[in-house]
Amino acid sequence: MKLFTIVGARPQFIKAAAVSRAVAEAGGIDEAIIHTGQHYDANMSDIFFDELGIPAPARHLGIGGGSHGAMTGKMLESLEAAMMEDRPDAVLVYGDTNSTLAGALAASKLHIPIVHVEAGLRSFNRKMPEEINRVVADHLSVLLLSPTQTGVDNLKTEGLTKGVHAVGDVMHDATLYAIEQSKTRSTVMSDLELDGKDYAVCTLHRAENTDDVDRFARVIAFIEDQAKTRPVIFPVHPRTRKVMAERGIKPEGVVQIDPLGYFDLHRLLADSSLVLTDSGGLQKEAYFHRKPCITLRDETEWTETVGAGWNRLWTMDDWKSPRVDITDCGDGDAGAKTVAVIKDWFAAQK
Ligand code: UD1
Repeated sequence: MKLFTIVGARPQFIKAAAVSRAVAEAGGIDEAIIHTGQHYDANMSDIFFDELGIPAPARHLGIGGGSHGAMTGKMLESLEAAMMEDRPDAVLVYGDTNSTLAGALAASKLHIPIVHVEAGLRSFNRKMPEEINRVVADHLSVLLLSPTQTGVDNLKTEGLTKGVHAVGDVMHDATLYAIEQSKTRSTVMSDLELDGKDYAVCTLHRAENTDDVDRFARVIAFIEDQAKTRPVIFPVHPRTRKVMAERGIKPEGVVQIDPLGYFDLHRLLADSSLVLTDSGGLQKEAYFHRKPCITLRDETEWTETVGAGWNRLWTMDDWKSPRVDITDCGDGDAGAKTVAVIKDWFAAQK
């Protein structure tokens, strides 16, 4: 079976690492990784391939930057050409980025079956580009692999029940691996002189926050308020760095650093006392480390984390109590289950 895996943005490299490892272990699938180029800085892309041992991309399309429409359009054209040339039996897309959308659209035009990992997540906010991307990808896919029961329920509400499987969360697999590796392969604690200190970790990059001047100022004020009780370590996404430089924003009590590799990020999370973020992935990673998280958005796709008392929106006064475990994110075997579902599906086509 020939499988095209489409990746382009940081969270997709992490998810692909977990699944590609399982693909290699299972055998019988010839996987080609196609990198759209959406994320192109070394510390947003190459470092993840190196650290996580992701097979080198069979193709790198070099399409990063530009408006969403232009970016997605260029990807669509290049991905279609690649698919016409190599004729994969199926195309695997992850999550909700413009690379996901372009991969799903290109495959659907060529009648190539699509597998969507992280299917069924919904923020119910159609102003988010990610919400549009994930809804379209779900409705075009033949296999919808959901991390949670909530995802399965969301799909059912939209009439999607065929090909739906709850396989657990591949980010959980990735986190368990990173926690182990980061014990010996990270120097971040000594680099930042954090050993034995209390600190929070913050990331911020969503367009809904960065592109609205007033809102961004309010979010920064909120982060500064949190920084009054402990320093906030802030690996800054390139878009956010640009916006902060343009607007002359230098938050007090906040230690700005370059984006981190995966092992450094997890080492930092392991000893932190609070996570502040607008990222989807980090909300869950905070939970996997059992760290309280404040989500810097007005809604979240990861409602389970809020229900379990580990996460709250910044608009909420407090976390729900008591804190409990989330039971359906899998045992770190979501990658293996993903591959098993794909192989079963492929065998049934013959
Ligand atoms: C994308 C995803 C988002 C995901 C995030 C992870 C979409 C719509 N959004 O957002 O869901 O959470 O990735 O980080 O696909 N840039 C660089 N260097 C890089 C990468 C980006 O300078 O390596 C710049 C781009 O040129 C652009 C900006 O940062 O100006 C934003 O990048 P873009 O790929 O549009 O989306 P993200 O905000 O990263």
